[in-house]
Amino acid sequence: METTLIILKPDAVQRGLMGRIISRFEDKGLQIIGMKMMRISDDLAAEHYAMHKDKPFYHGLVSFMTSSPVVVMAVHGKGAIAVCRKMMGATFGADAEPGSIRGDFGVSNSFNLIHGSDSPKAAEEELHRFFTEDELHPYGRAIDSWVYDMSGEQPE
Ligand code: RTP
Ligand code: MG
Repeated sequence: METTLIILKPDAVQRGLMGRIISRFEDKGLQIIGMKMMRISDDLAAEHYAMHKDKPFYHGLVSFMTSSPVVVMAVHGKGAIAVCRKMMGATFGADAEPGSIRGDFGVSNSFNLIHGSDSPKAAEEELHRFFTEDELHPYGRAIDSWVYDMSGEQPE
């Protein structure tokens, strides 16, 4: 089981797509164990996208991510990191497969609605970047015994 960091970017909030995007994760059977709206500071955006600081799109990206509130979520489930990346689709909206979040809701390269951690190491760092321990709420769900096959040692 994994937990990943999802950000509904400023365009998702401004376009009124929060509910529909959140529903996709719930519909999939993934569990939201942390969620809040926040305004990302310049420093936080710079830290979060430090790996892109030499890219031509970096300044536009930081300016976009700090331009309006976002929703950050901790999403938990089996293989959650890769599952969420697949649900998001390719980075650029025009390339993203229909059926994916970016494929269904956007056509832009930069305004692509959603961020998701891309590895277990990134998920660990990003969850700590955006959530304190007491903002995360792991909880048992009665429905888990129907979301997963619980007959073995691990949920399948
Ligand atoms: P993210 O980090 O936000 O989850 O997106 P990603 O892994 O799919 O894409 P990444 O290569 O990490 O790029 C980070 C974000 O920068 C913006 N971008 N704009 N205009 C451009 O050429 C361009 N390239 C990247 C996007 O918002 C992308 O999600
Ligand atoms: Mg990325």
